[in-house]
Amino acid sequence: MTLRISPSVLAADFTRLADEADAVADDADLLHVDVMDNHFVPNLTVGLPVVESLVKNVRLPLDIHLGIADPDRWAPDYAEAGAGSVTIHAEATHAPVRTLRAIRAAGAQAGLALSPATPLLPYEGLLEEVDTLLVMTVEPGFGSQKFLEFTLEKVRRAREAIDSLRRVSGREIPLWLQVDGGVNEATIERCAAAGADSFVAGSAVYASDDPAAAVRALRAKAES
Ligand code: DX5
Ligand code: ZN
Repeated sequence: MTLRISPSVLAADFTRLADEADAVADDADLLHVDVMDNHFVPNLTVGLPVVESLVKNVRLPLDIHLGIADPDRWAPDYAEAGAGSVTIHAEATHAPVRTLRAIRAAGAQAGLALSPATPLLPYEGLLEEVDTLLVMTVEPGFGSQKFLEFTLEKVRRAREAIDSLRRVSGREIPLWLQVDGGVNEATIERCAAAGADSFVAGSAVYASDDPAAAVRALRAKAES
């Protein structure tokens, strides 16, 4: 697999999450779940009990994005619950190395997210510890926001940093470069050209009448 599409259920019908997940299960690679606590971001979504139920009832690996103030406390629990991937925010963690290692030790892939104003440079040394680097392309908190073009420069820098890490360390396990926010058929090609290979899309998938077709269309654009 050379790229990943991760539909975000933030834009789905929360009363029918398992059905909404099923709708994309044959075409998507992951299912993105935004956990928000009304502290790190001004929005409140779901927590561990809902994620535990989703793990049991959804075929896709869960891509948990922790938009919460205390990821060091909670991230390992999401990994232990059976998430495929757990992403913490650089701006919220106080012990990124410990928490990223705890996520991996619990059997999930570890992700580190950078909000739009957060530079990559202070975190480059952490790339060895992560399986996914998430460059936010909107301010985290809400779906359907406008894509922030200036974040593409960070995507390009992240691509260079990841490629150079691979050359220097000979790393063989994947290190995904993910974008999240305002990713749609109009913006995904620019994200891919800048070096992203993992794409979160909420409204572009779930506001569509045919979410599975929307995932296929996004993949085709990203591959073009
Ligand atoms: C925003 C979330 C996103 C959100 C993206 O804070 O992290 O995952 O669902 O929604 P769209 O794709 O509609 O911008
Ligand atoms: Zn997200």
